Amino acid sequence: MLTVRDLAALREAVREFRAEGMRVALVPTMGALHAGHIALVEAAKRPGTKVVASIFVNPRQFGPNEDLSRYPRREKADLTMLEDAGCDLAWLPPVETMYPEGFASNVQVAGVSEGLDGAARPGHFDGVATVVSKLFNQVAPDAAYFGEKDYQQLQVIRRMVTDLDFDIEIVGVPTQRDDDGLALSSRNIYLDETERQKAVALPRVLGIAARAIGRGDDPAAALAEAEASLTGAGFTVDYVALVDAETLEANPGAGRPRRLLAAVRMGGTRLIDNIAVEEV
Ligand code: PAF
Repeated sequence: MLTVRDLAALREAVREFRAEGMRVALVPTMGALHAGHIALVEAAKRPGTKVVASIFVNPRQFGPNEDLSRYPRREKADLTMLEDAGCDLAWLPPVETMYPEGFASNVQVAGVSEGLDGAARPGHFDGVATVVSKLFNQVAPDAAYFGEKDYQQLQVIRRMVTDLDFDIEIVGVPTQRDDDGLALSSRNIYLDETERQKAVALPRVLGIAARAIGRGDDPAAALAEAEASLTGAGFTVDYVALVDAETLEANPGAGRPRRLLAAVRMGGTRLIDNIAVEEV
């Protein structure tokens, strides 16, 4: 696996991949890799495709009171995991490459980025859309892979790619979970043992609510019950919402795909999860 920290060298390596007739797939990450990221690399690995994974802890997507300074950084272990997974190139841009002095641009995707986490974390999705645009321009991949765990992020990126004519296929990969159902996240390491045990309530409660709504129960009642269960399990609930799976608008119209999204906090840790609502 090539490890590249210089933009000109990255572009040269990608040119060489293309000269060999290969497609290029990008897996953007902030490091602190776990099996969820490796599932993205696995999904991206195809015959005739070179996989580029980026690692960049993007300061612009963290709010002033968020965990930028304590966000886990373990480059060596990350590089070993990527290499073992069969990644072809690790792109580790220095912060000066991503945000050169005088950087003044911002990519903002209205609508889909405004509610839910966008409301709870002002500026977060601007930071994501801006850095992902840069990564797309740097790597110029044919396809890019994102986890469904960050469901709103995935929809923001899909909207951005459509709106701005990025010629890149966006692939959403199902959430990877621990044995008890908790979605894998780099932030799970902030949970102590007791919190970790309690955290399993998040996927369980979402699953129960999604099944109830899918079989026709009143959504408002199911959401209220989910919120009460999550509070009872020791979480502070930021939101539990039933939305249109594409636009993320509340009150999805008849026949539209629906998704249940939640964000909760326990101690100093914020967890998100989501699940499709299947009609039965
Ligand atoms: O999902 C993430 O890890 C980040 O939001 C991303 C897409 C790498 C942008 O910094």
